[in-house]
Amino acid sequence: MKKDKNILCIGAGYVGGPTMAVIASKCPDYKVTVADIDEKRINAWNSDKLPIYEPGLSELVRNVRGKRLFFTTDIAKGIKDAGIIFVSVNTPTKTFGEGAGKAADLQYWEKTARAIVEHAEDNKIVIEKSTLPLRAAEAMHRILHSNTKGLDFDVISNPEFMAEGTAIDDMQNPDRVLIGGMETASGRKAVERIVEIYAHWVPRERILSTNVWSSELSKLVANAMLAQRISSINSISALCEKTDANINEVAKAVGMDSRIGPKFLKASVGFGGSCFKKDILNLVYLCEYYGLPEVAAYWEEVVKINDFQERRFVKNIVKNMFNTVAGKKIAVFGFAFKADTGDTRESPAIYVSRMLLDEKAELAICDPEALDNAKRDLADDKGKFEFVNDPYKCARNSHAVLILTEWSEFRKLDYRKIYASMEKPAFIFDGRNLLDHKELFKIGFNVFPIGSTKFTHLK
Ligand code: UDX
Ligand code: ADP
Repeated sequence: MKKDKNILCIGAGYVGGPTMAVIASKCPDYKVTVADIDEKRINAWNSDKLPIYEPGLSELVRNVRGKRLFFTTDIAKGIKDAGIIFVSVNTPTKTFGEGAGKAADLQYWEKTARAIVEHAEDNKIVIEKSTLPLRAAEAMHRILHSNTKGLDFDVISNPEFMAEGTAIDDMQNPDRVLIGGMETASGRKAVERIVEIYAHWVPRERILSTNVWSSELSKLVANAMLAQRISSINSISALCEKTDANINEVAKAVGMDSRIGPKFLKASVGFGGSCFKKDILNLVYLCEYYGLPEVAAYWEEVVKINDFQERRFVKNIVKNMFNTVAGKKIAVFGFAFKADTGDTRESPAIYVSRMLLDEKAELAICDPEALDNAKRDLADDKGKFEFVNDPYKCARNSHAVLILTEWSEFRKLDYRKIYASMEKPAFIFDGRNLLDHKELFKIGFNVFPIGSTKFTHLK
């Protein structure tokens, strides 16, 4: 197979895996290899139990794996063989040094750039797929061109806009695909070659080519604006709880203004996920770096409101359970940062659980897909908590049930049975406004939604 039809993706995570599965399934004239340093992860990609849960992913992988889609730990060979290299290694927020807590930690990404330089034997197109700070492509360009082999690399920014839980559909039917390239003759040619891949299934008018900086910044801004909508509606949910307004009614009325639109206005216990907080903080860091403290403060507030919403949720629990949860069993329904994923990165459930453990509550945690990750997240935490697969067992003898992830499974449970097995008075704090609150109240629960009046039998 010719090298320009040979794609390598470095990083077999939530981004690399699903993205490459879709490219392989849509582009029969390409060979796609996904490489990772993590051998366990690669073995899982080659097995029946994939390392990540994503609706539709395993069918897709099963259809093309071993034919056009390959998973390997042999990064060197992958680099040698491929003409097009996607980089989707992790870029978490820095936890140390300059920019700690805000800037992106680029160590994995830089190691990858250096591996490309070391193993490449000819010119290649390198595509940044991880979310990176602005001007990362330029840094990538510099590292790649530090080679003494006389090789030339075109660096492209192609941010991913897929959301977990809907990754396959987002990738198969994207609102738009963004491809940013250098404004040189060879840069433009490289962009065209990546456009050609996506054009296998995406209508041309949805494929935008821009300069690299616009592409990198658009990704940060899209996520910052989405998160801002959630923080906006969550801030108003606090006001609704103090008045007789209902956040669902407000969101509907506001969202029906076609200039605003109905999406991403669901009030919740807070947003999570690997992108929103990281990308906003990245934007904040950039603004500070460029001497724009007012702009930095503006965006940082989106994250602060999210922290406030999580704290508020826990305060509300403690206050309404007679100002103490010490020694009380509390059932946590849902640990993933949203439904249809096992991912728990930045999940509000982590923060809510920690705050409740500090209050000496005893937690029982259930989630259809996220328990392994939840165990890892709380591995270093002190206090009493257990992981239970069955929600009925999880709720038995508890004083309260918390809904922290909007899994549809939780809607279908028999809440009469749950109520009967709980201590009284029994509480439900619905951090996702998932359940039928009036119905729960009729059963006997004291119900606390987000952003509307509580239903309580207490005097
Ligand atoms: C996000 C972007 O949507 C995606 O385009 C980008 O590529 C990666 O980051 P993701 O983090 O997977 O995707 O999930 P998303 O669906 O955006 O949800 C993020 C968080 O916001 C979740 O915790 C979700 O529960 C919460 N959310 C979302 C709300 O609380 N209310 C809403 O109305 C929408
Ligand atoms: P994302 O959500 O951005 O996809 P993940 O953490 O799920 O993030 O995936 C990133 C993957 O990149 C991990 O599987 C990790 O092992 C891999 N990775 C990190 N550094 C390197 C590297 N230098 N070479 C190859 N793979 C790497």
